[in-house]
Amino acid sequence: MKSLVLCSKNTGENETYGDVALKVASFPLEKNKVYCSMMEIDPPDFDSQLQAHHVFIRVLAFSCNYRDKSIILAWSTLAAQQIAKDSEAEYYSGIGSEFVAEVMEVGEAVKTLVPGDRVILDASFPLRRDGEAPGGLSTNHASLRYHVIHEFQLMRIPKDFPIEVAAGFTIAGQTVFGMLDRLQLKPDANILVTSAKSLTSLFAISALKKYKVYALSSSAKFKEQVLELGAKDLWVMEHGNSNFLQAEDLPRFQQVLQDTGGFDAVIDPFIDLHLDRLLDFVKLDGQYISCGFYQQYSGWEKKTFRFPSERTPHLFGNLIAKKINIYGHCLGKAIHLEKALAAFQKGEVTLPIDTVYGEEDLVSFFEKTYNSKDRFGKVIFKYQD
Ligand SMILES: NC(=O)c1ccc[n+]([C@@H]2O[C@H](COP(=O)([O-])OP(=O)(O)OC[C@H]3O[C@@H](n4cnc5c(N)ncnc54)[C@H](OP(=O)(O)O)[C@@H]3O)[C@@H](O)[C@H]2O)c1
Repeated sequence: MKSLVLCSKNTGENETYGDVALKVASFPLEKNKVYCSMMEIDPPDFDSQLQAHHVFIRVLAFSCNYRDKSIILAWSTLAAQQIAKDSEAEYYSGIGSEFVAEVMEVGEAVKTLVPGDRVILDASFPLRRDGEAPGGLSTNHASLRYHVIHEFQLMRIPKDFPIEVAAGFTIAGQTVFGMLDRLQLKPDANILVTSAKSLTSLFAISALKKYKVYALSSSAKFKEQVLELGAKDLWVMEHGNSNFLQAEDLPRFQQVLQDTGGFDAVIDPFIDLHLDRLLDFVKLDGQYISCGFYQQYSGWEKKTFRFPSERTPHLFGNLIAKKINIYGHCLGKAIHLEKALAAFQKGEVTLPIDTVYGEEDLVSFFEKTYNSKDRFGKVIFKYQD
């Protein structure tokens, strides 16, 4: 059974499977050329006695996230450096940080899962679900077909849960429900969600549709779909421009400020893009929560990005005078993933899927995930066997 892998440029030049030559494809990523292929990879060893609490699983579908971009850039740069030293060497790596899988075998002490169960990652953070070990995402190699993972880092999903949604559910689901738990919003809260088209924000907007939730985005593309998910309005922020919003959106934005007095909470997955501009519009005692920042891969991108430091005194002034609470956030607990799964099943929240690709579409999968301006929702890679 083949896995989608990143590989070094020379991988497979002399290899065949049966009489089929290994095909290596490539896609551009931030001025780098990244190579990928479908490759036969041996499953990891599994000993149900020695790994009594572990589970042997087979991946059915997976997806890549914003965080995986820096992993891809780092890995392919290092692989290229290595083959520059040794042209015979070949490297490969699985990629991706969430998946849906089928349980094949369980360790002797496993009580929560049985063979045949469908599972996704439980990325409980900072501790694993049982509290016995560090938690978080248990793999950055989700694309590999077989994994051995601790039972408390997996969560069973119903058999009828759509595979495409399950393959991209853990990170958005656990993080958004974790953030909402931190915020404890009042029913009449006025909320702004930034980078509306990021998967995290699409999921947050959908989960908040009963509230007055507004969206900020770098473009009006898919505005209708964002409004359909639950946003009352979408405003386009002019990144890199001294104007805050595009002119046609400004009156509607100002009207909301006038009617409400500002935002009770801001949910922002890219704090370095927005914090300095948005604190002006947060109410007294308001909340600002962020789970991420834009400049995660700048070291590999060779671009410089400058936090607008000239505005820093203004930012601190707002923060202090308005007693704004700023929260850093990461993932969530098992209960948050359970709540997200239940909400999806009850139809209370939606995880938009852009495209599901298969083994003939390796390059399109990566291009759509990372290079397309026309992406709305999650991009999934689904295995055929
Ligand atoms: N710590 C955690 O537990 C955790 C969990 C989930 C996510 N995160 C973080 O949340 C963030 C979003 O992750 P994701 O996977 O949801 O991202 P994603 O789907 O890849 O987000 C893409 C979106 O980001 C915005 N964007 C991208 N480049 C931009 C630029 N140059 N200028 C302005 N906006 C730009 C665009 O939204 P618009 O066009 O709508 O502006 C774009 O559609 C990341 O920082 C990630 O690390 C962290």
